[in-house]
Amino acid sequence: MSRFKGYLFFLLTVFVFALNAQDSLDASDFFDRPPQTYNTPDKLLGWIDSRNLTSLNGEWSYIVDPMNNGLPESSFFGGFPKNKTQKTGMELIEYNFETAAKISIPGAWNAADQQLFFYRGPVWLFKKFDYSKQGNQLTHIYFEGSNFTTKIFLNGQSVGEFKGGYVPFNFDITDYVKEGENILLVLTDNTLNKSTVPTNKTDWWPWGGLIGDVYLIETPQTFILNAFVQLDSETFDKALLKVQLSEPLQNSTVTITIPELKFQQSFLTDSSGSIAEEISFNPILWSPDNPKLYKVNISNSSDFITDQIGFRSIHINGQQIFLNGKQIKFKGISMHAEPIAEAGPAFSKNHFKKLLKTAKDLNTNFVRAAHYPYSRHLAKTADEIGLMLWEEVPVYWNIDWTNPETFTIAKNQISRLVQRDWNRSSVVVWSVANETPFSPNRMDFLNNLIAEIKLNDETRLTTAALLSGSEDQFKLLVLALALQGTKSEWVNAKEKIIFKSILEQVNFAEDSSLDFSISIDDPLGESLDLISYNEYFGWYYVTFFVDQMQVEEGTLRRLMFEILEDIKITSIYNKPIHISEFGAGAKYGTTGNKIWSEEYQANVYRHQLKMISNNPQIQGITPWILKDFRAMLRPLPGIQDFYNRKGLIDENGNKKEAFMVLQDFYDTQWE
Ligand code: GCU
Repeated sequence: MSRFKGYLFFLLTVFVFALNAQDSLDASDFFDRPPQTYNTPDKLLGWIDSRNLTSLNGEWSYIVDPMNNGLPESSFFGGFPKNKTQKTGMELIEYNFETAAKISIPGAWNAADQQLFFYRGPVWLFKKFDYSKQGNQLTHIYFEGSNFTTKIFLNGQSVGEFKGGYVPFNFDITDYVKEGENILLVLTDNTLNKSTVPTNKTDWWPWGGLIGDVYLIETPQTFILNAFVQLDSETFDKALLKVQLSEPLQNSTVTITIPELKFQQSFLTDSSGSIAEEISFNPILWSPDNPKLYKVNISNSSDFITDQIGFRSIHINGQQIFLNGKQIKFKGISMHAEPIAEAGPAFSKNHFKKLLKTAKDLNTNFVRAAHYPYSRHLAKTADEIGLMLWEEVPVYWNIDWTNPETFTIAKNQISRLVQRDWNRSSVVVWSVANETPFSPNRMDFLNNLIAEIKLNDETRLTTAALLSGSEDQFKLLVLALALQGTKSEWVNAKEKIIFKSILEQVNFAEDSSLDFSISIDDPLGESLDLISYNEYFGWYYVTFFVDQMQVEEGTLRRLMFEILEDIKITSIYNKPIHISEFGAGAKYGTTGNKIWSEEYQANVYRHQLKMISNNPQIQGITPWILKDFRAMLRPLPGIQDFYNRKGLIDENGNKKEAFMVLQDFYDTQWE
């Protein structure tokens, strides 16, 4: 009898396999499964540091997956999310996260693993965690930042996907998380292309993976999703309060208290579960010299959130900037989110404390956090130590302006950045772009981003780091250099003849004078509060003229120093100009009057700072850059070694000569 049963079972198995084989062969999708659709994230959870958090930071494991083989839609066997494990030793499984390499999260896998240094592609991150939930709370998973596309799977189920690095996102995982052991798999991919934001061409490193905190957050079924409490930008005793519940719950009583000001007021939500009210109180105003913060509590019947908030006003009037009604200048420095003396991205409070302390050491009151959103720890730290911030999205160089998906990435980045940091007194400027070439499509794209900012926050300044200077304007620079060349004693006879012939070609008399001037007329200026401009007089530009003028680059560099201080920078817009970048490269410890020496870099700073002092419309500067940073565009062996060396300190924190030049300028000049 048992033999018959065995035979019957064998026939049945063959029959089932044949059926499957028939299906798979007919469907001819054996290799190319239809792409899986993924959920998009929920609305951003604000005020997270006061919520019921469980940190998933710490040791994770990872597997590199260059062909995306691990995705369910890519693998006949269901991919990595099934996380199959050996039971009898006979199961064919070609991955194992338990025995895979380990990584500390937050952290970039192309910083942690030297084999991945230049890698641009998918990497799976794995975390097993035990969980037990209190009551009937909702459970969310929150990512502070993940580069650049992220797919989340929990206990084998697809939770969702987020496209666009650097900014926080969260998903409600109440229906996915289990009591006891949970398996979390996150696919991160740092691939960039012509339609991503940024594109694949950037002068900074594409740190990949979970570059920010990862938390489980528990909330009531109906919770306070986010809230905005900031002074009106023109008065100091009125503030705008906006509160949004997670559900459209009407007539929910929401109470705001600021104990130190003995302030308490309650409001009822409208039909959309939101509140928008003006409230009055008299705070000590926040400033870099007095970074006063107040504990602010917001609660309703089921939820309670709290934060430390500073109250200040920032606005412009004509060509001047006003903080709390007092005219100021932005004495700044630019930075990237890379820690001092540590590889990879900056992500922790300690990282930003060290970086911002160094910035304060320069006698700054302002920092440009270029070129993308940083962790929330940056602005929270700046609030506490007293520094104003410019925050920015990576709409960098030439973007795919007409691609709706590209705009969605950028819009997500700016709206999430604003909704996360809109209570940070340190943040005074939002920037929508860096060095984007003019075109009608670029104007539409950026004006829509500016509109997105205004939808969320109208109390801060908007800007973009502009290129400027038409070809004709730069032709004038060639003439100014040629004219200077005919006058300078030290120029040799051969080059003097060349300079004279350049002037003769345009009938420019040798005895005339020419102050080179540049006007920043980018049409985007109409939509911006701050006219920001990147210029590299003393570093770039002359390189482009050498072939055209057939003279030594060293001659042109020396002539540039002779005319730099007299350069005029203006704008057709009656608004403050902010020099968002100037600078020069230097390898720490390199001496001598030559390119890459500390002396040359310090010389560029001395001449630039004199020029800036001579231009009254310039009301802010953020020289490029605080610290040497990783960049694939900078290979020069022995000097750059894939670092951009325009830092005032090197990657280990060693101060270059130019550090002291800027430090002294901010301390003793340019009030
Ligand atoms: C550009 C750009 C920076 C870059 C810098 C440089 O202006 O905005 O991202 O690093 O110049 O050339 O070093």
